[in-house]
Amino acid sequence: MTEKNNTGEQKLWGGRFTESTDAFVEEFTASVSFDQRLYRQDIQGSVAHCRMLAKVGVLTDAESDQILEGLSTVEKEIAAGEFEWSVSREDVHMNIEARLTDIIGTVGKKLHTGRSRNDQVATDIRLFLRAEIDRILSEIDRLQQGLLSLAEREAGTIMPGFTHLQAAQPVTFGHHMLAWFEMLSRDHERLVDCRKRVNRNPLGAAALAGTTFPIDRAYTAELLGFEGICENSLDAVSDRDFAIEFTAAASLLMTHLSRFSEELVLWSSSQFNFIDLPDRFCTGSSIMPQKKNPDVPELVRGKVGRVNGHLISLLTLMKSQPLAYNKDNQEDKEPLFDTVDTVLNSLRAYADMMPAVEVKESVMHEAALRGFSTATDLADYLVKKGLPFRDAHEVVGQAVSYALNKNCDLSELSLKELQQFSEQYISDNVFDVLTLEGSVQARDHLGGTAPKQVLAAVQRGRQLLQARSGK
Ligand code: ARG
Repeated sequence: MTEKNNTGEQKLWGGRFTESTDAFVEEFTASVSFDQRLYRQDIQGSVAHCRMLAKVGVLTDAESDQILEGLSTVEKEIAAGEFEWSVSREDVHMNIEARLTDIIGTVGKKLHTGRSRNDQVATDIRLFLRAEIDRILSEIDRLQQGLLSLAEREAGTIMPGFTHLQAAQPVTFGHHMLAWFEMLSRDHERLVDCRKRVNRNPLGAAALAGTTFPIDRAYTAELLGFEGICENSLDAVSDRDFAIEFTAAASLLMTHLSRFSEELVLWSSSQFNFIDLPDRFCTGSSIMPQKKNPDVPELVRGKVGRVNGHLISLLTLMKSQPLAYNKDNQEDKEPLFDTVDTVLNSLRAYADMMPAVEVKESVMHEAALRGFSTATDLADYLVKKGLPFRDAHEVVGQAVSYALNKNCDLSELSLKELQQFSEQYISDNVFDVLTLEGSVQARDHLGGTAPKQVLAAVQRGRQLLQARSGK
């Protein structure tokens, strides 16, 4: 007896079974509820496989034409929302194959020649991830464009730079934006690198050992736009390291976004008041009428948790799996899909929001004046006059302590007051270095915060983005 499913239909693999799948087990083992998201890639893979089978003579041209036409009908049905997904057909692969056979008859059953769902699903995920990486890369690009414009506009805007979240030295807002830009450049690079290992062809590995048919793996690779072939059939169907690697890169990217988020949340608080987030990216409170909450940055900060979680899920999923394919791998899809969605949505929100951030120049300037942020400049000044740095550090420490008692900034002390701490080395040009503008302008080297350097870095950033799009 051939095993039937719970709707009375014969299973595609039912030949050796003598009883029906338990109804709960059927639900439990099915993946169609989530892997139907791969339908386009599944059909794309089938089209390539079918054309290859015709090329090597395993299918006749007429058979191949019928199959291709049938696949195109199935794709249209799915796209139009007319396709009936069936749990008893288990997954996206068997749903599509069974429907193909419903439509074109027996010849549909030939499509699976020399192939297994094991190489099929590996192909689908790689095609899916490749496309999603490309979408993510272009969102990173869009956010980076926005950061460059902001950096250019605010190249001379002074803010306090922090260490330990305490005002440390003045920096320019543009310089701060470019720090974010750099993080994203590395994220972009990581994903471009990861894409190379995603973009390999597992098709032809069949279940695990390859196939007895004279397949042409290079041809399917070419049809699918893969840059190379997964060389070993056992490895091809089993490893998901490419998905783990992607998720690790995504995790770092989200970690960067969480750092941006944290700063935006702080800066938009009334305590800092450095920036104003556009109303359309914030929400209010149902009880406190005065509130405007930075929901988007907070949510992005929170979403890092799920991506980090997915990374651990996938690593744990892969750990200790014996070769070759194991059903465990069906669990790779939901974490991967959610990682892709989370990263894309977070980037999109940031790319839309950043250009609309309002920068409160005078508040930041005022904040930079507080906190003795030019103390290092005074120490450097003394060193240039001949005092060893450690001694200069001590002298400035005393001056800061004096100013603290007077409740004023170093630049507000008189020359006489300053000279109490080092008569020999302090003269009236000291005030040039005690101003915020003097301080940032003096850091005039590659990677420094001087407005001139910020503008130069913006130009280099533009060239980088240009070079990317040229590729
Ligand atoms: N739904 C399965 C997955 O996602 C497809 C491969 C199933 N292969 C098998 N031999 N049961 O991994």
